[in-house]
Amino acid sequence: MDPFTCLICGEPYLGKSAPDRCPFCGAHEMHLVPSSMYVDVGAVELSEQSRKDCQEALQLELKNQSFYKCAADNAENELTRAIFKRLSKQEAEHAELLCDLMGIDEPEPPAAECADSDVENFKTAGGKEKNAANFYLQVAARAPESRVKEVFRAISDIESEHLKLSNIYGGNS
Ligand SMILES: [Fe+2]
Ligand SMILES: [Fe+2]
Repeated sequence: MDPFTCLICGEPYLGKSAPDRCPFCGAHEMHLVPSSMYVDVGAVELSEQSRKDCQEALQLELKNQSFYKCAADNAENELTRAIFKRLSKQEAEHAELLCDLMGIDEPEPPAAECADSDVENFKTAGGKEKNAANFYLQVAARAPESRVKEVFRAISDIESEHLKLSNIYGGNS
C-alpha cells in the first residue's frame, strides 16, 4: 500500500497503485502523485476577477452538492443512489477546495429541490454539468494565476465526465 496525493484537492489515497480518478474530487489520474512528492499550495493571492470567479464557482458547487444529495435521497435504486451520492461528495470536495484556494471558511450548502424520478434528475444534472464544464473553461482561460487555471481546468474535465454520466442515465446519449 502506497500513498498517492491529488494535486487538485490535496486528499491522500492508500492503494496498490494510483487510481484512474481521484476518489475524492474525481480528478484524472495525471493529477495524482506519490505523496512524498506532494507540495501543498494552500491559499493563493487572487486577482479581483479570479476571486469573483471562485465565489461564483463555490455557489455553483454548493447548489449542485445539495441537488445531488436530494437526488440520492430520492433515488429509485441502489445503483442510481450510489451515483448521486458520489456526485454530491465530489461537488462538496470542489466547494472545499475552492474555499481552500480563497482562504475562507466553507459556508453551509443551500436547500435544494429535486424530482422523484431518477431520469428527471439525470436530465437536470445534464444541464447543470454542461453549464459547469463551460463555466470552468471560460474562467480558466482568463485566470492569470497558474494554480487557478490548473484547478479550473481540472474541475471542467471532471464536470464533463459528470455530463457524460448524466447523459447515459438521463437517456440523452
Ligand atoms: Fe482530488
Ligand atoms: Fe463540481
